Amino acid sequence: MKKKVLVTGGTGYIGSHTAVELINEGYDVVIIDNLYNSEEKVLDGIEKITGVRPVLEVFDLCDHEMLGSFFSKNSDIAAVIHFAAYKAVGESVRKPLEYYRNNLVSLINILESMKKHKVPNFVFSSSCTVYGQPEKLPVTESAPLQPAVSPYGNTKQVGEEIIRDTVDADNMIKAIALRYFNPIGAHPSAIIGELPHGVPENLVPYITQTAIGIREELKVFGNDYDTPDGYCIRDYLHVVDLAKAHVVAVNRLIGGKNKAGFEVFNLGTGKGVSVMEAISSFEKVSGISLKYKVVERRPGDIEKIWADPSFANTELGWKTQSSLDVAMKTAWDWEKQIRKKS
Ligand code: UFG
Repeated sequence: MKKKVLVTGGTGYIGSHTAVELINEGYDVVIIDNLYNSEEKVLDGIEKITGVRPVLEVFDLCDHEMLGSFFSKNSDIAAVIHFAAYKAVGESVRKPLEYYRNNLVSLINILESMKKHKVPNFVFSSSCTVYGQPEKLPVTESAPLQPAVSPYGNTKQVGEEIIRDTVDADNMIKAIALRYFNPIGAHPSAIIGELPHGVPENLVPYITQTAIGIREELKVFGNDYDTPDGYCIRDYLHVVDLAKAHVVAVNRLIGGKNKAGFEVFNLGTGKGVSVMEAISSFEKVSGISLKYKVVERRPGDIEKIWADPSFANTELGWKTQSSLDVAMKTAWDWEKQIRKKS
């Protein structure tokens, strides 16, 4: 019998890539998504890649009753991966209560349902935003967490604390929090990828939309940072590598190989890349000369951060495989593919 994994937010960017990898690994995937920031047709893509169409239940995880009746029908779930959340940093500053309600109420509802129905394994989407601007780079999991600069970031910090306390209370639930650095790119088939609504906030979709002609030019936020070339530095990892880490985390929990009830892992490449290096990589793989202009710094931007992924490398046996160039190429292939259709 295939083991069943619930993926909340499974029609979203990282969720859909993870659904593909879980199916490839032989898991039975069930998705809950309210389609707030994604589309049902993503299921067609998952089916095209894997030959399997996951079950999708469309409802809001803040709806305690709906979630309760879902778990009553699905108490055989072996693990939950919880992606569903609001994720726009700037928007969270304008709408803090919506962010706290959505991200925290849904998390509490899921953990309560898991306890009630004795579903023991939980994987949480966390973020390197919890580190703020780290004093030492690369940053390890034991680095002190900094006060969050946005309500969004705070929901990740508080979310981790809620999970830790829940695990510590009675050890019924075992959990892994995965702190993502900057996921980019798309599935190599160009059948699924990132579908930002409106004007993209993140660098890579903004680059690809500029290159294809939807945006006039990329605004590069600042070139006077204390970094070798003056541009901000991030750790960009390919979304398929990130998706695979979730499969490893689920295998670890189901196989009882976790060493503590609650574990935290950095997921990054270990390599810092500046905004200008990211642009150069895109130009190289696409053959396009990108239109961009350096403008003021973006408020709230961290100057430089990249991961020390050695804990994930040794403990999980997980390591990123794709280079920046490969990740950029998949992002570009995906952009060309979606524009061809529409
Ligand atoms: N950037 C630009 N122009 C743009 C967009 C981004 O120059 O139009 C620069 C930013 O200043 C930054 C880099 O590109 O230096 C990356 O910016 P992103 O917005 O792509 O990513 P961030 O590192 O700011 O944010 C990401 C996630 C957040 C998460 C954060 C830390 O989008 O959800 O990492 O984990 F909180």
